Amino acid sequence: MVIGIGTDMFEVKRMKDRLKNQPSFSEGIYTIHEIEYCEQFKNKAEHYAARYAAKEAFLKAIGTGWRNGITFKDIEIINDNLGKPEIKLHGKAKEVCGQLNAHNILVTLSHTKELAIAFVIINNKQT
Ligand SMILES: CC(C)(COP(=O)(O)OP(=O)(O)OC[C@H]1O[C@@H](n2cnc3c(N)ncnc32)[C@H](O)[C@@H]1OP(=O)(O)O)[C@@H](O)C(=O)NCCC(=O)NCCS
Repeated sequence: MVIGIGTDMFEVKRMKDRLKNQPSFSEGIYTIHEIEYCEQFKNKAEHYAARYAAKEAFLKAIGTGWRNGITFKDIEIINDNLGKPEIKLHGKAKEVCGQLNAHNILVTLSHTKELAIAFVIINNKQT
């Protein structure tokens, strides 16, 4: 059963500015795997922006936002061999999802030169 949905958008120009003006920005927000993934692209700000949107969309889907001590790096976006994104949770985010009995979290991303968008659905375990 669906127990939460969340969506978020992030402007690519805003991401470009952050990456340029805050040298440690990416290390504070993204895991090493996310950074490796985004850095392989010429349009890396689009990929970073989509992941930022996905992290915030996830927080909306669990319903509590940044409460509970969840950090950006607790919510990791990884792509499978075909490019499909998935959410891998760590730390507090994993703990909170355990309390919600969450199972099978779905994420989809899209990005243009201007805007990135993400959508997250959280299902619980069928009992
Ligand atoms: C998946 C696909 C529909 C994406 O559509 P698009 O309009 O090009 O790009 P969008 O900005 O809307 O979406 C990009 C996101 O799609 C997602 N995506 C990629 N492959 C996916 C797949 N197999 N299943 C689900 N989502 C996928 C990724 O999250 C990607 O963003 P990311 O790289 O930052 O993680 C398209 O790239 C496709 O069909 N790819 C398969 C064929 C292929 O590999 N083509 C390579 C170029 S010829």
